[in-house]
Amino acid sequence: MKAFVLKKHGEVGYVEKPLPILRDAHGVILKPVLVSPCTSDVHTVWQGSPKKPDLTLGHECIAEIVETGSEVRDFHPGEIVAVPAITPDWSQPDVAVNYAHAGHNFSAHMLGKSIDGAFQERFYLPYADQNLAHIPAGMDLDDALMCVDVVQTGFTAAEEAHVHAGDTVVVMGIGAIGLAAIMGAKLMGARTIYAVGSRPDNVKIAESMRDESCLVEVLNYKTLRSSLPEGMHPLANSTNSPVVNYVLHRTGTRGADKVLICGGNDYTLAEAVDMVKYGTGVVSNVMYFGADPEREDRELRNLEDPRNREENRRNTEIDGLLLPKFSMGRGMAGKTLKFSLSKGGRQNLERVLRLIREHDLHPGIFITEHYTGLDKAKQALYDMKDRKAIKISVEI
Ligand SMILES: NC(=O)c1ccc[n+]([C@@H]2O[C@H](COP(=O)([O-])OP(=O)(O)OC[C@H]3O[C@@H](n4cnc5c(N)ncnc54)[C@H](OP(=O)(O)O)[C@@H]3O)[C@@H](O)[C@H]2O)c1
Repeated sequence: MKAFVLKKHGEVGYVEKPLPILRDAHGVILKPVLVSPCTSDVHTVWQGSPKKPDLTLGHECIAEIVETGSEVRDFHPGEIVAVPAITPDWSQPDVAVNYAHAGHNFSAHMLGKSIDGAFQERFYLPYADQNLAHIPAGMDLDDALMCVDVVQTGFTAAEEAHVHAGDTVVVMGIGAIGLAAIMGAKLMGARTIYAVGSRPDNVKIAESMRDESCLVEVLNYKTLRSSLPEGMHPLANSTNSPVVNYVLHRTGTRGADKVLICGGNDYTLAEAVDMVKYGTGVVSNVMYFGADPEREDRELRNLEDPRNREENRRNTEIDGLLLPKFSMGRGMAGKTLKFSLSKGGRQNLERVLRLIREHDLHPGIFITEHYTGLDKAKQALYDMKDRKAIKISVEI
């Protein structure tokens, strides 16, 4: 069968692989029906840590069940199901309290990371009863496809921030994840959302989410002009960001209740900390902070240099992120920072699918390009890399 794989760092291509076999009684063999490349696939190929040779990419998928293991109870061959991007390892004893990293770090990020993903004609998934999700009757499959990763991740950002009714929320980034975070924050009762981004298609969708219950205002971080509110200490905006200035103005200098980081760069965390409220503010990050390879390399060399160990690591350099001490109240500001992998597994995805259906929401509008055939997976991945679409669905 044909598979679209990561050949080596920065190189993808198609290879022939044997059909997967059912490896255990709890697993299933799936045939992709709709797939979507994720920004995370782009990171896996061009920025990620080393992977097994010829790893098949892809973790956003609606699939048909081809074969089930003898212990699978709730799913049957022929059914069309939603496959969560995050599929916890249910064999780990701590999975009930640590679904994402049970047993070892990122254990739940299996598909297209530690096992072959969905960009092949058939693929294997373990723990079907815990990891597959039924799609509500009549639900549009594009909407369901957007739930398997995008909506689950956006909702994770909002839920981990504990958005409350009446909150003022900043959503940094209005790619698909940020747009889904706006949906999630609205469902949780946010009253005002400042959504930060610039691409016109994304801006249009973000603005369409404004209604009488919630003001959604888009801030274009490339063109916005705003100065620090009078009387504020200049260090209150450590990066001199107009977005921070604007949010401080609009919140009477108190800052936003919650900041959801769904896009940005290495300065975004500092901006978020600067513009979130003292005492109760939460910064909830779901963005991937790409490594700086040169810094990481210097960091490694310094750590390996015995002289540095002897000198108490005086030359230590860290490929890290900036936390402004001033806005952290020198360590006592009462601000909470969360860094999360998306929620996943059957229970969460079925909950999210139900919410989307019940509230008549249509994340399928994030799909701005449709392709047909596994042959198009490569083009779709490059389109995501070059930001030519918000999301792409590929019908297999
Ligand atoms: N935690 C998880 O489990 C999980 C799951 C899926 C994805 N992710 C991660 O989530 C992130 C978002 O994914 P996506 O597909 O939505 O990405 P995307 O389409 O690239 O969107 C990124 C957004 O960030 C905005 N942005 C860029 N620089 C900015 C800056 N300096 N300040 C403010 N906004 C800025 C972009 O603005 P423009 O409009 O100007 O482009 C865009 O709106 C990625 O890092 C992805 O890897 C995480």
